[in-house]
Amino acid sequence: MSNLKLLRRTKQLKGHFEMRSAKQQSLFPELYEDIVLSPKPVNIASVPQRSPFRYPGGKTWFVPVFRNWLANHYPKPEILIEPFAGGGIISLTALFENLVSYVVMVEIDEDIAAVWQSIVDGNAEWLAKKILDFDLTKEAVIEEISKTGVCIKEKAFQTILKNRTFHGGILAEGSGFLKHGENGKGIRSRWYPTTLAKRFDNLKLVADRITFRQEDGLGVIREYSQRCDVVFFIDPPYTAGGKKAGKRLYRHFNLDHECLFTHCESVKGDFLMTYDNADEVKTMARRHGFQMRLIPMTNTHHATMEELVIGKDLTWMDGYPAVHEPVAEYKAANRKKRVPTKRRT
Ligand SMILES: C[S@@+](CC[C@H](N)C(=O)[O-])C[C@H]1O[C@@H](n2cnc3c(N)ncnc32)[C@H](O)[C@@H]1O
Repeated sequence: MSNLKLLRRTKQLKGHFEMRSAKQQSLFPELYEDIVLSPKPVNIASVPQRSPFRYPGGKTWFVPVFRNWLANHYPKPEILIEPFAGGGIISLTALFENLVSYVVMVEIDEDIAAVWQSIVDGNAEWLAKKILDFDLTKEAVIEEISKTGVCIKEKAFQTILKNRTFHGGILAEGSGFLKHGENGKGIRSRWYPTTLAKRFDNLKLVADRITFRQEDGLGVIREYSQRCDVVFFIDPPYTAGGKKAGKRLYRHFNLDHECLFTHCESVKGDFLMTYDNADEVKTMARRHGFQMRLIPMTNTHHATMEELVIGKDLTWMDGYPAVHEPVAEYKAANRKKRVPTKRRT
């Protein structure tokens, strides 16, 4: 790589990611202050937490990469669509940081949907007050979440209570109350009423730029696929292969992943998709002609692992490891040897 190109690449990555760096010797030391070696997981404490959820599989750690992705779009996209919104940290970041004008958040789970719908309906302040007034004990939570026939904003409050008091924030069947929690504080250990109320209060500021839809995200991708001013951040339940972690985390985990990839192929704007690093996913991505990069993240057990980022053109992610193609066999004339390929995807 030429000196100029290397400098440009370094500057582009610097400041967007937290990178491992090293002093390099060169003819122009002033130009090579830091040279990127390889990315390390983002420290999520450095990312503003704007979501009222503690969401299983949440993408707070992905925020710096997401910002960098949008920074590489000119002109700025008008709308961000999040077809699998969950805790919605990516959409909220895009709004608060003015990376797009509007977002369309889609979530099929009715409990989660109640929260987003309440915010859009102008009930964020009501939720903030309800949180501040609630005296959280196990008995009080059980009484509150057992109420039936409640309106949307009350359902939203029930969802927040469950999300904050259930193990891992998981609302799927089989989930139960936190036993020990942080510092042995049990059921109260994730209940920060002032912080949560503040987040809801802040959401009032962006509520009129959110369209929320409780429906199948696949249909919404298809609906907007022909618009060039739209970008999609796609974070589906991880159930296409490998450990299928999404099965345990979400009530709605079944998804036609092949159909999702087909819809992505028709997108005229741009999309960025995250997935677990499973062979089945990589095979699908290759078949649909997409590029892939590996990105480090720290899971809930503080172990560093890699997730997949999939898109049409990931050249802006050249600082990240590529996924190497499996060894291919060629049957060219006069060539008896197996030739391994090392194409970047
Ligand atoms: C991996 S999570 C998204 C997490 C989110 N990116 C965040 O940062 O919090 C996937 C979400 O997709 C939702 N979901 C599953 N199937 C869906 C579908 N067909 N349409 C819309 N949402 C769906 C699940 O309920 C879950 O909340």
